[in-house]
Amino acid sequence: MPNVVIIGAQWGDEGKGKIVDVYTERADMVVRYQGGHNAGHTVVVGDETFILHLIPSGILHHGKRCVIGNGVVVSPEALVKEMEGLAERQIDVEGRLFISERACVIMPYHVALDLAGEERKGAEAIGTTGRGIGPAYEDKAARSAIRVGDLLDPGAFRDRLEAALEYKNFILERFFGKEPFDELEVFESTMALAERFRGYITDTVSLIQKGIADGQNVLFEGAQGSHLDVDHGTYPFVTSSSTTVGGACTGSGIGPRSIDAVIGITKAYTTRVGGGPFPTELTDKLGDSIREAGGEYGATTGRPRRCGWFDAVVVRQSARVNGLTGMVITKLDVLDGINPLRICTGYTCGGEHYDVLPSGIDELTRCKPIYEEHPGWKESTAGTTRWEDLPGEARSYIKRLEELFEVPVAVVSTGQERNEYIELSDPFKSF
Ligand code: IMP
Repeated sequence: MPNVVIIGAQWGDEGKGKIVDVYTERADMVVRYQGGHNAGHTVVVGDETFILHLIPSGILHHGKRCVIGNGVVVSPEALVKEMEGLAERQIDVEGRLFISERACVIMPYHVALDLAGEERKGAEAIGTTGRGIGPAYEDKAARSAIRVGDLLDPGAFRDRLEAALEYKNFILERFFGKEPFDELEVFESTMALAERFRGYITDTVSLIQKGIADGQNVLFEGAQGSHLDVDHGTYPFVTSSSTTVGGACTGSGIGPRSIDAVIGITKAYTTRVGGGPFPTELTDKLGDSIREAGGEYGATTGRPRRCGWFDAVVVRQSARVNGLTGMVITKLDVLDGINPLRICTGYTCGGEHYDVLPSGIDELTRCKPIYEEHPGWKESTAGTTRWEDLPGEARSYIKRLEELFEVPVAVVSTGQERNEYIELSDPFKSF
């Protein structure tokens, strides 16, 4: 019966895919509730690596039901590509994949507008994934989006498309100096794609609520991270959805009292991809070696991720904003052999001390981290599955992080494989 939400506690890429994969074993249903195919969840099963962007990674588990909730923005092209990729690997989504009729559609003009907007911003660019996420959510808020359910009615869809393109083409041509879209072409290509997934479109709100009422375990799979949240993140260097826990309610249609546990995921260090302030960033050789050891390249865009020391201010803020009940620390093994380690415990800016992130981007950019040093460990922690087998320094590093972010550690992940983790408590068993 427990319903568990997974939240990225940093700027995304915390290794949520692996943990979702582990927790999916204990769930009956897995729900994506925000974002779109800007996410990239990597799951390693034996010799195979799966990267899923839109479909919940729970789909890799036989018999589990997977939902793309109303808060997600759905690219028909990305969805069909992912369905085909799964089919090629003999993973059947029939009867297991459900797509909300209320989810908004990412149309080709959203991608063009995202790219043109970024190009125009030049050095000020956000560094988006270029997937059309922002423009799609803009249309949702402006009440002019095309929703997945509209694709079931070609006449209504055509009308909405005509209205949208009249405006979008004007902006693309006159403001950005880009090519306009041909209405018939967009209509036909979108309808052809929709044909492939029309059987999966349904009222997911009722489906999820029924699952909960029947006592099923539901796992809500957050994408991106808390500090990319459109309200609570490092605005404007954020994504356009609610990545914090409220997004799980609005993006799937459940009330907060249905949530039993909120599990944050953090790396044992920090990474960020795209622009925006990053107080503990390492721009030296050590940053490069963490990137190589951690394979820190974007799962969606392949971009090198910026790497830095663990920032306890960032993670503590996520713990508070999301009411985290447990924390998962991932990629501990990447820190093997680094000595000493540093942990950021606060910032100074203009003589002032901060133990939360200032909301202003200029102020945050000027913030200097306050570090404490921690002894590293020489031994390899890769693949360790028992707490007692970790080197003493690694155990005390984790204990110190736990003290600083004020949430008990539930899991320490020590490698990419499904079974490479140490479990200290199970959110599905504590009820
Ligand atoms: P968008 O979501 O493509 O609009 O990108 C906005 C910001 O969020 C950019 O800095 C992206 O790099 C970042 N972002 C979006 N999705 C992810 C993700 O899954 N992991 C990490 N960063 C992301």
